[in-house]
Order: sequence, then C-alpha cells, then structure tokens
Amino acid sequence: MDQAGSIGIFDSGYGGLTVFRSIAGLLPQYDYIYLGDNARAPYGNRSYDTVHHYTLECVEWFFKMGCPLVILACNTASAKALRTIQQLDLPKLAPENRVLGVIRPTAEIIGTFTHSKVVGVLGTRGTVNSRSYELEIHHFFPEIKVHQLACPMWVPLIENGEYNSAGADYYVKKYLDELISSAPEIDTILLACTHYPLLLDKIRNYLPSHIKVVSQGPIVADSLAGYLNRHPEMACRLQKNGVKKFFTTDDTVDFDRHGASFFGEELISEYVQLQH
Ligand code: DGL
Repeated sequence: MDQAGSIGIFDSGYGGLTVFRSIAGLLPQYDYIYLGDNARAPYGNRSYDTVHHYTLECVEWFFKMGCPLVILACNTASAKALRTIQQLDLPKLAPENRVLGVIRPTAEIIGTFTHSKVVGVLGTRGTVNSRSYELEIHHFFPEIKVHQLACPMWVPLIENGEYNSAGADYYVKKYLDELISSAPEIDTILLACTHYPLLLDKIRNYLPSHIKVVSQGPIVADSLAGYLNRHPEMACRLQKNGVKKFFTTDDTVDFDRHGASFFGEELISEYVQLQH
C-alpha cells in the first residue's frame, strides 16, 4: 500500500474553511491539506467548463500531494464539476482515490429540519442555475418544495472582508426579502454556499425567529465521519497525526488575515502556483 496521506479540502477561496473548521472539530485525529484557489475566486458566475477545469487542476494537485480523499467544500464546484470528475476524470487519473462533494450530504438531511416542507436554498448563481439542490433534495424528500435564490453579491462582500459592513446589511436584507416574499411558508433556509456562514448574524437579524438557518459545516463533518466508518479501506489510507496545512493560489498574507475569521483560529498558509 502507498504511504498514508492527508484528507484534501478544497474551495474556490475562504468558504471551505467554515466546513474544514467543523470537520477538524469532529475528526481532529486526521491530517488535512486545505487549498483555496483565491487567485481565481469567485467561481460562482463561471461556466461549467471553467469550473470543471479549475477544480480538476486543484484535485490533481491534491493527488500529487498524496491525498487519497478530497472533499470539494465548495457548492459551486460540487454542482458543476464533481460528477464529471467522479465519472470521467477519476477512473483515468487515480481510480483508487475518492472525491466527495457537499451537496448530497446536505440534501440527504435537510428534510429533517422543516415542518412546513418548504425550504429556501441560497447559493451562488452557478449552484442555483445547476438546479442540483432541487434534484438532490427531491430525490430524498419528494414532498418538499424548494425555492432557490442566487445571492451573487454575498461572496464578493465576504471575500473582500466587507461582511460586517452596512453594504452587507443592504444585500443580506435584499436577498432574504426576495426569497421570503416568493414563498412565505419557508421555515428552513439552507446556506448552500460555504462562504455564507460568515453572514449568519446578519442573516438571523433579518429573519423571523421561526425560520431555521442551516449551515453545512456540521452536516458535512458528520457525513464524512459516517463515510470513514463505512469505508475502513479509505480510513486506513489516511495519516493520523492531527496536522493541518493551508495553501492558497494567491497572497498568503491576505489568506492568513482573512482565513482566520472563517476557520476560527490563526493559520499560516503557503503559496501554490497552479496555472500552467
Ligand atoms: N464557497 C463556494 C460555494 O460554496 C463558492 C464561492 C464562489 O467561488 O463563488 O459555492
């Protein structure tokens, strides 16, 4: 057997750190490598081909770094690239490795949060236009009505450190008003973008208290723990020294400064050049 490796965690930028935080909290024993493709973020408005091309490049990098398991902690990449990577690229590249996304584990459980059976899904344009959440949620909960809304201003506000500003208040209220007026029976809102938990306090401020707001971090962490229990052949290929490494395709000083608020603790990143 090859040498054991780290679990790779990927996002277009900082958002995946909110998921990584939950994963590392639940499964601290494993080694992890995080990669934020900050130089090319946001992915949210990009085409299928571009998101696939960028995501695949990052997945190949993780494999070179020795990661047998990669989590796409990015809804946009999960919606627009995961299936192609799993079905077409992986069998050629590294059939023994695995790449998992965040949409299926979230869709599997979201039905347990709602009583009204009407769920709001907020995400990037890419995630919303792919209709992946509608399809996946209906697969597990055919009775649930899903109302999606793209929030294209939220990721740029967050990536630029403006998530506490008055501008952020304006755009949080704007999109929530739009969503709720389209379906007042919504009692559960899924934050289907891993950046959005940074806006959670503001989001709560503009919603009535009976509406639940669901972030993906804990859901994805639980799902990964379940996956590793069901797949001991993968768990035994993973290094367990509790080491966490962070990489970015852009400026490391910026990454360390902004990344800490997503991850909840200080971090030190290394630069990686991906583009050929
Ligand atoms: N954090 C990513 C997601 O969950 C996307 C942000 C972006 O690059 O637009 O969709």
